[in-house]
Amino acid sequence: MCGISGYVGNGNAPEILFDMLKKLEYRGYDSAGIAYITGDGTIHLPKDKGKVDEVRRKLRPERLKSTIGVGHTRWATHGAPSQVNAHPHADCSGEIVVAHNGIIENYVDLKSELSELGHKFKSETDTEVIAHLVEHYMASEKSVLSALEKTLERLKGSFAITVITSREPDKIFIARNESPMLVGLGVGENFIASDAPAFLSKTKKALILEDMDYGFVSKKTVVIKNLSTRKEVKKKVHKITWGASEAEKEGFQHFMLKEIHEEPNAARNALSAEKELEEIAGKLAKKTRICFVACGTAYHAGLVGKYILENYGIPAEAFVASEFRYSTVETMDDKTGVVSITQSGETADTIAAIKGAKKKDAYIASIVNVVGSSVTRISDDVAYIRAGPEIAVASTKAYIGQVLSCTLLSLLVARAKGRISAHEFEHLKSELKNIPRKIKEAVENRRINEIAEENASTKKFFFIGRNINYPTALEGALKLKEISYVHAEGYPAGELKHGPIAILDQDTTVLAITAEGKLRDKMHSNIQEAKARGAKVITVGFECDLDVPKTDPLLSPILNIVPLHMLAYYISVLKGLDPDKPRNLAKSVTVE
Ligand code: G6P
Repeated sequence: MCGISGYVGNGNAPEILFDMLKKLEYRGYDSAGIAYITGDGTIHLPKDKGKVDEVRRKLRPERLKSTIGVGHTRWATHGAPSQVNAHPHADCSGEIVVAHNGIIENYVDLKSELSELGHKFKSETDTEVIAHLVEHYMASEKSVLSALEKTLERLKGSFAITVITSREPDKIFIARNESPMLVGLGVGENFIASDAPAFLSKTKKALILEDMDYGFVSKKTVVIKNLSTRKEVKKKVHKITWGASEAEKEGFQHFMLKEIHEEPNAARNALSAEKELEEIAGKLAKKTRICFVACGTAYHAGLVGKYILENYGIPAEAFVASEFRYSTVETMDDKTGVVSITQSGETADTIAAIKGAKKKDAYIASIVNVVGSSVTRISDDVAYIRAGPEIAVASTKAYIGQVLSCTLLSLLVARAKGRISAHEFEHLKSELKNIPRKIKEAVENRRINEIAEENASTKKFFFIGRNINYPTALEGALKLKEISYVHAEGYPAGELKHGPIAILDQDTTVLAITAEGKLRDKMHSNIQEAKARGAKVITVGFECDLDVPKTDPLLSPILNIVPLHMLAYYISVLKGLDPDKPRNLAKSVTVE
């Protein structure tokens, strides 16, 4: 999500910063910009929406000479892609400029506090509050570094930040929490970047910032402190041995694996949309009919939402958009609420489905990843999952964001309708906060690799689950067929005996997704049925073969899918395939 570049030395900063941004293009972005200081102390801020080369050609930043500056490629999370929302962002005086990768979760509160103090905001971004906060603290602090310390104490969320200011024009101030940041060490020059490829052609020596590290970088010095002690930290100099393309993946073999490791963060970011979801829930609660509509992986997230609503006695349906648009759409009216779910916001069938429902006066709310995409413009309301750009074709971290959003939305609808007790709601909400940590534990389970090896040549797979984990079975099977090209079917476990059981034999592996709760025993009976036909059974869930941490049964789909993502990934790699680019599939299906 977003790319950051920084340069201080003797070279021409505008040119170097844009060259560095070019190397970060793979991260996905919609806008590009830089800020640099010229000899007279002025900060220049050329930025716009569009490709790095387009923005560079239009604004010709290299016209002016400068030896210090920061750059940014933006992937919109707060506010549509536009010139004003592009980074870097300045304070009121234009003397402090900030570029940021991440999400400031408490920006709404900070913005209103700063507005009351007279600060004027230009953009819709969360980032701009950082520039104004530094400005605010500079009024009372002796140095930019201590103003930055005060600022960091106020920020909640994830960030990699660069700050330049005409008050101390020879330094780039930096800070990191949860978003990547490296300092490339040159001779008489230093570089800052989200990822090593940005400076690999200049230096292979780098410092890697840890959470809550902050400090400054000048031509010859790098000072890094940590907010926990406020003391300087001695950083190890890493010699980067990766090639540029490995470095893009931050050392992971594939984007898909990198994105699976980003699932904890995707869950955390999706939770930050609670206010948007609450507003949508209030409107849905007034409708007599709630329909989730989506395609592919996103449809499975909608199905989870349906099961949660039904759990609280609220009627709900889930449809694949390509079916919905030609029949169910005719039954829409102003008493219906449609929730569309889409990573890209550009899927043709999803767009047609919500356009059709809108024509019939249904209320349209959408859960989307890409800010400003077509679906967001058609919808009445939008909640963003903020999973960051997903490069691998098979969706993983976006699915986590979608399931979590559908779960939280459904719980909020149940609360708005008075169908859930305050105690139960609070219990589930606090357990949702533990989910990112539990996903991390699930991702780190080494047993998945062994199970993948034992099953890499299996020809037939069944994924079975019940109730709220039936969508998990569908999604697990979809992931495996998408990237491993083996036959995998997702089935409601209770339906096994109505047909599929006929093809179970010793060449079949059954992935049985379990959860605590009322259907656990029934699931065990289904497992016995499969075993009795000679099939190999792998259980998925708490204290299972593919083990995940314990959680409330209603939240189990968010954890149970994690080892299935990993399993599909490993099997694909063991088969010698490229999981990032599966044959015949497209990331965004913009045609019918
Ligand atoms: C394609 C992708 C899937 C995705 C589906 C819906 O089939 O390969 O990963 O789930 O489209 O995409 P959307 O962008 O609407 O979520």
